[in-house]
Amino acid sequence: MKKYRIGIVGATGAVGQEIIHLLEKREFPVAEARLLASARSAGREIQACGNLEVVKETTFDSFNGLDIAIFSAGAKNTLEFAEAASKQNCVIIDNSSAFRMDKDVPLVVPEINGDCLEQHKGIIANPNCSTAVALMGLYPLHKRFGLKRFFASTYQAVSGAGAEGVILLDEQIKQHFSIETQSAQVESIFPHPIAFNLIPHIDEFRADGYTKEELKMRNETKKILNSQNIRVSCTCVRVPVYRAHSISINAEFDSPVNVPDARSALEDFSGVELWDIPNAQRYPMPLNYSEKEICGVGRLRLDHGFENGLAFWIVGDQLWKGAALNAVQIAEELIERKCLKTL
Ligand SMILES: NC(=O)c1ccc[n+]([C@@H]2O[C@H](COP(=O)([O-])OP(=O)(O)OC[C@H]3O[C@@H](n4cnc5c(N)ncnc54)[C@H](OP(=O)(O)O)[C@@H]3O)[C@@H](O)[C@H]2O)c1
Repeated sequence: MKKYRIGIVGATGAVGQEIIHLLEKREFPVAEARLLASARSAGREIQACGNLEVVKETTFDSFNGLDIAIFSAGAKNTLEFAEAASKQNCVIIDNSSAFRMDKDVPLVVPEINGDCLEQHKGIIANPNCSTAVALMGLYPLHKRFGLKRFFASTYQAVSGAGAEGVILLDEQIKQHFSIETQSAQVESIFPHPIAFNLIPHIDEFRADGYTKEELKMRNETKKILNSQNIRVSCTCVRVPVYRAHSISINAEFDSPVNVPDARSALEDFSGVELWDIPNAQRYPMPLNYSEKEICGVGRLRLDHGFENGLAFWIVGDQLWKGAALNAVQIAEELIERKCLKTL
């Protein structure tokens, strides 16, 4: 079997670490795992794909000989290094927002629009984490009933803000219980305390009152489902949960809906499962969907607020389906479809 040389930009971060783990878990055919990060991490040793690898600083020459580079280092760094990587014949899969809305860049969830990979021009974008999880539930229902509009409220874990988010929640919990912490003064990446709190504010506010994170759900949904008519209103909330995003969705459809058909649409779609026996206290939660490849749908019911409406609750590990897993699945699909420049 042919093996591939793969670069991981942001290998020391929350997403980068999961990419390494998933390449191993899914037995991706790796010839070389090149771990790249900032100068701060250069020289660090990390076990990856069977070898002890030394992390290198990302430079314009870092991509020589690579088949694929998965970027998870923020939009600024993607924008800085993407051209150099592309010139070195390396296909980029990017977890940041840098290219998501670029008309020449496919924005891909493999189970939904993997066929778009055939048209890639060297860069493929991974969707925003909440959008990817929400669409795993919405897409099969859209195919069955035709999605008209939806309202979403997200409950986003602290690891969605990176490795620092996890440290911060840990430190604030310890401080609350007067447990000695590593550093009493952790500079916050959140605008308010996150332990024992909810913060209805992720990313910057725009003039219309929505945040940029909320607009990603609207814009990326339209692009991935290839439908400009779908209307979306979203409220994004950071919650004191370490891992896995939860989303409450109320959706209206073109055709009449019923719960048995909705259940069968979800059951027939890979990447999502129904975990929905409310009377047996069975519904998805972050604790039972962390480190799971599949997203869970529960609380599925007719929505009393619409003529043809469904309400449901979906939970997915945003570090996996919202980032690392989706990126590795894209890499697998590129190989399957023979869409790598070096094939
Ligand atoms: N966390 C999630 O759930 C999630 C979900 C979807 C998408 N994303 C996106 O994925 C990206 C990474 O997020 P994260 O949560 O993993 O953040 P993170 O934990 O803060 O990690 C950031 C990574 O970027 C690296 N980096 C920083 N400056 C760099 C530079 N100049 N050159 C090369 N590497 C550099 C860091 O390396 P050092 O260790 O050397 O600083 C680190 O490896 C972001 O674009 C984020 O929006 C994250």
